[in-house]
Amino acid sequence: MKIELITIFPDLFAGLFRYGMIRRAVEKGLLDLSVLDLREFTDDRHRTVDDRPYGGGEGMVLKPEPLFRAVESRRRPGEPDPRVILLSPQGRRFDQQKAKELSLRARLILICGRYEGVDQRVADHLADEELSIGDYVLSGGELAGAVVVDAVSRLIPGVLGEGQSALRESFMEGLLDHPHYTRPADFRGWGVPEALLSGNHEEIRRWREAEAWRLTRGRRPDLIEALKEKTDEPAGSG
Ligand code: ADE
Repeated sequence: MKIELITIFPDLFAGLFRYGMIRRAVEKGLLDLSVLDLREFTDDRHRTVDDRPYGGGEGMVLKPEPLFRAVESRRRPGEPDPRVILLSPQGRRFDQQKAKELSLRARLILICGRYEGVDQRVADHLADEELSIGDYVLSGGELAGAVVVDAVSRLIPGVLGEGQSALRESFMEGLLDHPHYTRPADFRGWGVPEALLSGNHEEIRRWREAEAWRLTRGRRPDLIEALKEKTDEPAGSG
């Protein structure tokens, strides 16, 4: 999969992608990541990427021309166009389902907006969809873009080991994860649940499942509702 990020802060991503799973995905050739500097797609001496908002008000708005130029420069004749995503707080909520959907695409372009705004014609005529990573306002779409890269990359087949992928597909999908413990079995007087020390695989599985349900019920009843809706859905719908 190829993912390209368009940003006014390209240096921000350098460290982020040099570690862990993303680095391994790139090294294995499963992920091709590039960061494009929006200023490279300007045509004035000052490399202007933003301008004052029509109608007045605070802040600057990202101009449409450099963004259109950047995205259009990535199209390759004879190849399917990349899916173009604008990150902004106005977008639909990004979630695991969306991450899965995006992980099936061959190419993504992520446009990192900024909080004052992006010219609306980008959302209307350039992006295929607008995504938000949550109901809070970041100072720019860069961190949101990095979140999408991370969540999508780990779903590309082959990026995670087989064991981890199997876990992801397990019955506990859609629930919060169960708690995890490692050595020592006694830390400052705090122990580890007996079931985990039992060596009995069935008992461990049952404990983990029960904990996942308990946590989800207590903290995220909305996830339980979503699971119910999914199982109530008649086959073939949606
Ligand atoms: N840019 C600013 N806030 C954002 C958010 N919550 N999600 C995506 N992009 C953003």
